Amino acid sequence: MNLNSEIWAAAPETEPERQYYFIEVCKKQVAEEREKLGRPLTFCVTTFGCQMNARDSEKLTGILEQIGYQPTEEDTADFVIYNTCTVRENANLKVYGHLGLLKHRKKENPHMKIALCGCMMQEPEVVAKLKQSYRFVDLVFGTHNIFKFAELLAESMENGSMIVDIWKDTQEIVEELPIERKYSFKSGVNIMFGCNNFCSYCIVPYVRGRERSRKPEDIIKEIEKLAADGVTEVMLLGQNVNSYGKNLETPMTFAELLREVEKIDGIRRIRFMTSHPKDLSDELIQVMKESRKICRHLHLPLQSGSSRILKAMNRRYTKEQYLELAEKIRREIPDISLTTDIIVGFPGETDEDFEETLDVVRKVHYDNAYTFIYSRRTGTPAASMENQVSEADNKVRFDKLLKLVQDCAREQTARYTGTVQEVLIEEVNDHRPGYVTGRMSNNLLVHFPGEASQIGQYVNVSLDECKGFYFMGTIV
Ligand code: 5AD
Ligand code: SF4
Repeated sequence: MNLNSEIWAAAPETEPERQYYFIEVCKKQVAEEREKLGRPLTFCVTTFGCQMNARDSEKLTGILEQIGYQPTEEDTADFVIYNTCTVRENANLKVYGHLGLLKHRKKENPHMKIALCGCMMQEPEVVAKLKQSYRFVDLVFGTHNIFKFAELLAESMENGSMIVDIWKDTQEIVEELPIERKYSFKSGVNIMFGCNNFCSYCIVPYVRGRERSRKPEDIIKEIEKLAADGVTEVMLLGQNVNSYGKNLETPMTFAELLREVEKIDGIRRIRFMTSHPKDLSDELIQVMKESRKICRHLHLPLQSGSSRILKAMNRRYTKEQYLELAEKIRREIPDISLTTDIIVGFPGETDEDFEETLDVVRKVHYDNAYTFIYSRRTGTPAASMENQVSEADNKVRFDKLLKLVQDCAREQTARYTGTVQEVLIEEVNDHRPGYVTGRMSNNLLVHFPGEASQIGQYVNVSLDECKGFYFMGTIV
């Protein structure tokens, strides 16, 4: 520890006070630098991956703005942060690609700072590679200690050499640090961290650690605060929200949590992500059915339609159980939109297995599906399985699946043509001047004439023309 020993000795021991202290320490440094350069210092946080990462990036942004950095584009920023994802290998490759470019920029602008955080940093091989070949990176931290960002930054400002701080796991959930939301009217809210499922292809349990649920009172307090601040839509976030609350001192189900969130004044829409089919309860279906606020959208990852492959994936449901569940949901909540994730080319997948996947897609008729080619992740059980599927086979299957899911999605979308739907206006349309974009409860988008001042408002829109996966409309 090189940090000026007096500054260090005076730091509070408790959180979040300690981080607020280091925010002040950094603030002074940034003010000095600003004086020297004769202009404000700028930053850019680039986010890869999921909604959880997007939420974490809002935390980083909040802290940086407190410290005195101003937001800008990546190619001019004094401070560049990549919040990384490692679910599939190409996400990792992208980060290395970006770093190559940054190396040149930093040579010309030695005052630049580069930080890397997120899931990819939780992989020991990645950190070893960075230490070896990417010494120009200033700061490397992981998913468990993101709350420590201000402290690590203070250390890096003082120290000047590469700081690496990765925790393997943590029980600590530090709340109430500054946060800067991307949208004023909607927000993600973490309800749990980590995953205990160990699907055999997935690296998440290794990089995000074991499941930890936040206390319901903390979640409710955060949402009440958001509501008071003008937020009307919340997205409850977790790798497997259906197992929320199992490990709390006083256990609580996800459905019970939803009932509590429903009571919060000012919140008009509730979304959540992601549901594991094996844990989706009848109680949850009932709560969704009765709710006036829970959106008519359920993301229910299938991964594969073959019971044999599902077993090898350690998903703990069969094709038949999944189909039964999907049918039950459609029956109980007829206006629901069902979306999914599907992996093509899991080790050992045959043409027959793949046909089973197509069969499920035809039967469930998804409103949308995210399709992925299996990516081998070091350290997961599937990585050492035999019969890895060839790239050529994967490509053929992927294209076939993509065509089918797109056809289904187009048909599902078209059903709404001519109806009137309540939408939340989210942004002005970049492609069409004088237009705004609104999101329906079922997650579909519609573009219609409007202006920036309407952002955040709920309006009824007539869906005049279906354009495949979205609509053109008019306010009624
Ligand atoms: N290869 C391909 N896709 C994967 N996913 C998770 N791990 C892998 C992998 N190794 C997909 C799953 C998951 C989504 C977030 O990413 O479909 O639901
Ligand atoms: Fe990965 Fe499975 Fe956990 Fe989802 S439920 S994060 S796919 S291990």
